[in-house]
Amino acid sequence: MFWRALLLLTLVKLIAAQEAERFESVIIGLGWNTFAFGPAGSSVGDGYRVNSTTPVLLRITDFSCSGDQFEVFVDKVSQGNTSVPIFDNCLTYTADPNAAFFSTVGWSRAYYILPAGPHEITLKTVLSPFGEGLGAIRFDYNTYLQPT
Ligand SMILES: *[C@@H]1O[C@H](CO)[C@@H](O)[C@H](O)[C@H]1NC(C)=O
Ligand SMILES: *[C@@H]1O[C@H](CO)[C@@H](O)[C@H](O)[C@H]1NC(C)=O
Repeated sequence: MFWRALLLLTLVKLIAAQEAERFESVIIGLGWNTFAFGPAGSSVGDGYRVNSTTPVLLRITDFSCSGDQFEVFVDKVSQGNTSVPIFDNCLTYTADPNAAFFSTVGWSRAYYILPAGPHEITLKTVLSPFGEGLGAIRFDYNTYLQPT
């Protein structure tokens, strides 16, 4: 009984350690990071960890077939859903995350300003009509908020 409890405790500690290490640290200003996602309601990838001494602009977009939507969490607090997408059985398609983000209709996207300091960003799929797909996220120094 004791050894089983000890084994269980060790396992729990191991999992906790893995949880702590699970985030992908991002380097700010390196362009779009693509991610794959699954069915609606599932969490997306490992999440991202960002730490900057100045505010950071976070941009996220669906690309490939339009129709998907995400919920964005900053430090576990929901920032709400990305914009409402158009679903048209993949007629609206691009392989370029930048084109998707800057398109006025079609792909779901959003941007947020992260205050200076460490943050953990996690994503959840809200709509996923194909059950899987591709999105992209990027982090940039927010030059608009900095003195020139
Ligand atoms: C974030 O960066 C600051 C300044 O470089 C550093 O002091 C702090 O320890 C970092 N925090 C985390 C959680 O990495
Ligand atoms: C996000 O979208 C889902 C699905 O449409 C909806 O159920 C949920 O209420 C939305 N969340 C917010 C914060 O608007």
